[in-house]
Amino acid sequence: MVQMGQDIGCAKAWLEAGNVVGIPTETVYGLAGNALNTDAILTIFRVKNRPAFDPLIVHTDTPAKLSRFVTSLPPAAQQLADAFWPGPLTLLLPKRNNIPDLVTAGLPTVAVRIPNHPLTLQLLAELDFPLAAPSANPFGYISPTTARHVADQLGNQIPYILDGGPAQVGLESTIVGFEDEVPRIFRLGGLTQVQVEAVVGPVTVQTHSTDNPAAPGMLSSHYAPRKPLVLLKPGQSLTLTDEVNPDRAGALVFREPVGGIPNGQQRVLSATGDLNEAAKNLFAHLRWLDALDLDLIYAETLPNTGLGAAINDRLRRASVQQ
Ligand code: TXA
Ligand code: MG
Repeated sequence: MVQMGQDIGCAKAWLEAGNVVGIPTETVYGLAGNALNTDAILTIFRVKNRPAFDPLIVHTDTPAKLSRFVTSLPPAAQQLADAFWPGPLTLLLPKRNNIPDLVTAGLPTVAVRIPNHPLTLQLLAELDFPLAAPSANPFGYISPTTARHVADQLGNQIPYILDGGPAQVGLESTIVGFEDEVPRIFRLGGLTQVQVEAVVGPVTVQTHSTDNPAAPGMLSSHYAPRKPLVLLKPGQSLTLTDEVNPDRAGALVFREPVGGIPNGQQRVLSATGDLNEAAKNLFAHLRWLDALDLDLIYAETLPNTGLGAAINDRLRRASVQQ
């Protein structure tokens, strides 16, 4: 069974031997392996059951190391890196040849990020290679925000999880790519569009659902619990139809429980209406509801401001398409 702890030396030893380990970040937990070692990358894909067409993010600890894996940095990328690293920002940059094509799914760009977690930053500082790390969940399932989440799902396939406590942001990083040096957001995450625009000016957001994963971005169905998740429209209040037994329904709500469903089957994201708190709770609450014996889970749409936009994006992808 998997070991969990704060032993950086242990994580380092497994990684240097070509194994994969769970690592904490401020966004979600990652399933990390040597980004320059094809065997380690193959293990990541196998453990996650991830299709090879979905590229990985490469993690490092200092901007000075960037030139080891990327050939150039557009000025806007430099500005964003200066403003937000370490932090929940991933940049798509032209890759050097030492990054295996497996990591980037054959794309000419590599996704790079400096995560903001003291244990993982120290681990990266002690390694002489960067870490490829997707979120540490089986492909398509809810991302993990605690070491326990990782152990519950991948514990029989990996030797070690570096336990850095609950993730402080709770949503994956915001992904920014560049076309002719013009920045564009490909995934909304722990950094808001407003924060990005404060540094580089207006940007377009291109996170539309796609089932064509050759295009950068994400699949339309993702982050999903096993139970059907029914997303209520903005402002829509819950009305149970005759087919739904309220005792078999759960709800993920923003500020307070809704009527009609037992309170013990509801999770409140933030009683004070704080979107940062809601983001931090989102995936743990979804997992909690998914573990109950229910037929379906309702979710409220949150205000689309601040982190609310990224939360709503995750809820849409987690929901049954209507
Ligand atoms: O916060 C995060 O980003 C977490 C932590 C562990 O760092 N990682 C994460 O990785 O969310 P993952 O693999 O679950 O999501 C990575 C996303 C995928 O949607 C993938 O398609 C996209 O990044 N991606 C990676 N490389 C890309 C590239 N070269 N071009 C376009 N999209 C890319
Ligand atoms: Mg993921």
